[in-house]
Parts: sequence; structure tokens; C-alpha cells
Amino acid sequence: MPKTIIISNRLPIKVQRTEEGLAYESSEGGLATGLGSIYKQGDNVWIGWPGTYFEEDSEKKQVRQDLHQQSMHPVYLTEGEIRDFYEGFSNETLWPTFHYFSQYAVYEDTYWEAYQRVNQKFCEAVMELASAGDTIWVHDYQLLLLPAMLREQMPESTIGFFQHIPFPSFEVFRLLPWREQLLQGMLGADLIGFHTYDDARHFLSSVSRIVGLNTSQGLIDNGFRNIMVDAFPMGIDYDKYASLATSEETHAKIAEYREALQEQRIILSIDRLDYSKGIPQRLQAFELFLKENPDFHGKVTLSMLVVPSRDQVEMYKQLKETIDELVGRINSSYRTITWTPIQYFYRSFPIEELSALYSVADIALVTPMRDGMNLVCKEYIASKVDRKGVLILSEMAGASRELADALLINPNDLGQMVRTIREALLMPEEEQITRMEHMQEIVQRYNIHHWVSIFMNRLEYIKEKQKAMATE
Ligand code: F6P
Repeated sequence: MPKTIIISNRLPIKVQRTEEGLAYESSEGGLATGLGSIYKQGDNVWIGWPGTYFEEDSEKKQVRQDLHQQSMHPVYLTEGEIRDFYEGFSNETLWPTFHYFSQYAVYEDTYWEAYQRVNQKFCEAVMELASAGDTIWVHDYQLLLLPAMLREQMPESTIGFFQHIPFPSFEVFRLLPWREQLLQGMLGADLIGFHTYDDARHFLSSVSRIVGLNTSQGLIDNGFRNIMVDAFPMGIDYDKYASLATSEETHAKIAEYREALQEQRIILSIDRLDYSKGIPQRLQAFELFLKENPDFHGKVTLSMLVVPSRDQVEMYKQLKETIDELVGRINSSYRTITWTPIQYFYRSFPIEELSALYSVADIALVTPMRDGMNLVCKEYIASKVDRKGVLILSEMAGASRELADALLINPNDLGQMVRTIREALLMPEEEQITRMEHMQEIVQRYNIHHWVSIFMNRLEYIKEKQKAMATE
């Protein structure tokens, strides 16, 4: 029976060594949470890195066995590969470039060599498990070369590729010394998906200008096959978040938070620690808000959850220091004996606690400088069973294309952010409910299951079209 093979750099489960032995917990990030609910169907399997360096063969064997029971297959990275492929090329070269922070990008041949080797390693892992007729679905910027590597091994195979982060404009993408090889790698797929039409448009423009292929109407003709490029805005498991919000555990947490927070209005912010998320800019806006709105002193708290991420990468270390300093400065300037303006947490939270925080939050402040989609804002919407609450959302997040009823802001415009925070705090309940209802309709309809089925149907369609064209 044909299966779907999902491949991403990181598995949806992280393995950690503890004093009691190996511990398995969910991974952070949109990809893991988004696809987590579908990969266990049938014989499907998810191939990826379990997130830790393992030296001992016995440990590797143990992890492999444990993961196999959960439809996962590990690809182990050496310490050098973690440094040069994961922290290096993926997160010091591609990540900053694709998020329009090209001034942070490192162009290093050793990183590029490691990137090619690790993509090859993933290719070998897929070849071990793939059979004719399987559908292969490659995810994200860490594996841009993999589609072409797989195509070479299995010319007839069905390969989809989805990019979870933005694709930059040609003028930014062209800065990469390996731009053509990266595009050729992606062009091994039959279908290439992005979150937004703009990302798809930028990609097509790079293909036409760098590779010189014809790209009319979202189809690329490479002389052998037609490759389809389109936008598939990713959704969340709406029902999971909606029902979690009414669960007993969440209710108990909500009661605990309400008691602790008393009459405070809550502004919630949740991100991985990343410069693309605009955390310092958000803190500066909150500081300015406090300065300009003394009537809200003692009445509003910014609850800021920052999930540790890529902490070995220099820019991330520096960002952590910047955030620590800003939070310290703001709290020390404004706090009173009975009020702390910012509650700052640097760790991950269990999903029941997140659900309770979404429920009690009057405002979700989601203000990335650049974000492929951003699923946190969708989780907030799905968790708002009473439909009260306001979403402040950056125009630079892919989600802003779908959520016109959010209060949209430009994260570089501090003044606008400050005015919008005040507007959100003063928004009448009736308006909150109307806006939230519209957004819930969209997030519920275009959920993760819809996303998977649209992508898979389109992949099947392009395969049929390719066959029809071959027999013409
Ligand atoms: O969702 C985008 C993404 O970059 C994923 O590819 C990634 O797994 C996640 O964010 C978290 O990043 P990392 O795997 O580097 O911790």
C-alpha cells in the first residue's frame, strides 16, 4: 500500500538525555505542531533529526526503536553537522536571508559543504524507506537540495516541497552565492508550495531570472516536466485548540491565573527566541505605551513567553541579552510593590497552560518583523471560545493576508503599535466579538486538514497533468 513520507529537518518529537534515561517531548515551532496531527495515519512515516547529538550506537539503536513505534525514523547528525549544517548554513545563511536580515547572513564554504552532505544523508534515509508509488513530502529551508537528489534516484516519483518560511524577493535571494544550486534543488519537486502568493511570486521571479526557465501562470517548464508553484496558507488543528480551551485542566489553570492576576488586562506574546519575531521592537512599543498612557499603569500586564531556540548561534545569544536588558529596564522603571508590567518567561509551556493563557489574554500581540505564516495567532483565535479578545498582528506575517479582522500594524512603526495597543484595550466587546467570529470562521475552515488535503490533491493533479502531457 503506497504511503506518504514526510521529511523535515526536525522530527515532531525531541529526544533528550535525562538522569532517568531518554526523554521524549514535543518539538517547538509551527511545522512540528502543524503536521503533528496527521503523520500517524496508515503507513505514513516522518523522517527527521531527533534534536540531540548521540555518540553511542546503543543509544541510537534505542531511539530508533522507540521512534519507529511512533511512525518516525531518525536521521542522526554529527556534532560538526549540527554546527555547520543546522546552526551554520540553515540558520546563519538561509534563515537571515529568507527573513530579509541579509546583514546577518554568513557566507561560508564549509557551511555549504555540510549543507550538501546532510541533504544527501536525508536522501539516503528516504531511499531506505521509499517504495514505488509512495508520495514524498519534503519540508522547509533546511532541505532545499533534497527534492533534486531524490529525483535523480527515483525519476518517476511524486515529490512535493513546502517552504514554511518566507521566500525573499529576487534582489535579496540573489545575494546568496549558491542561489542557482538552491533553486535547482527545489526544482526536483513536482509541486512547490509557499504560505503566500507573494512568496510564490518571488520564487518564480528568481527561477526565471537566475535559472532562465519559463514560469508562466505558476507552471515551470524545465524541459522534462511541468512543475507547479502555488500558495497554500497553512492552518492549525482548530478543533484541538477549541476543545482544549474547554477542558477541565485548562479551566483549572484559567481559574488559577485569574486569581493571581486579579483585575489586570493581559497582553500576551508568545514566540521562539528569534530576531525575525520583533521582540525588542515589541518591548520598546510597550515601554512607550506605558510612558504615554499613565491611566493604564497598574492595570495592564504584558505576559511574554519566549521559547529558547538555536541558543548556540551568535545572533540568538545577543538577542537574548537585549531582551533581558529591555525587560529589566522597563520593569525596574515602572513596577510597583503590587504590579509588574512585564511577566517574562524564558522556557516552553505545556499546551494546557498555553490554552489557559490564550483564554485569559485580552490581547494577543503578534508583531514579527517577518514571518512565513505565524500559527500562534491562529491558536489564539481558536482558543477564544467566548469570542472576546483582540488580535494585534504584523502585516509582515503571512497570516495577515487571511486575518483582515485583526488590528494590523507595521512592526517598524512604534507609534502605530502604541496607538493600536490602546485601541485594543478600549475596544467595545461587541466589536471584539464580531471581529473574532469572522476570524474564527476562516481559521476553522482553512484548518490543517484542509491544508494537507489541498496540497495533496494539487500534487496528484500535477502528476496526472505531467502524464497526460507525456503521452500527447
Ligand atoms: O516553522 C519554521 C521552522 O523553522 C521549522 O522548520 C523549524 O523546525 C522550527 O521553525 C523551529 O526551528 P528549529 O528546528 O531550528 O528549532
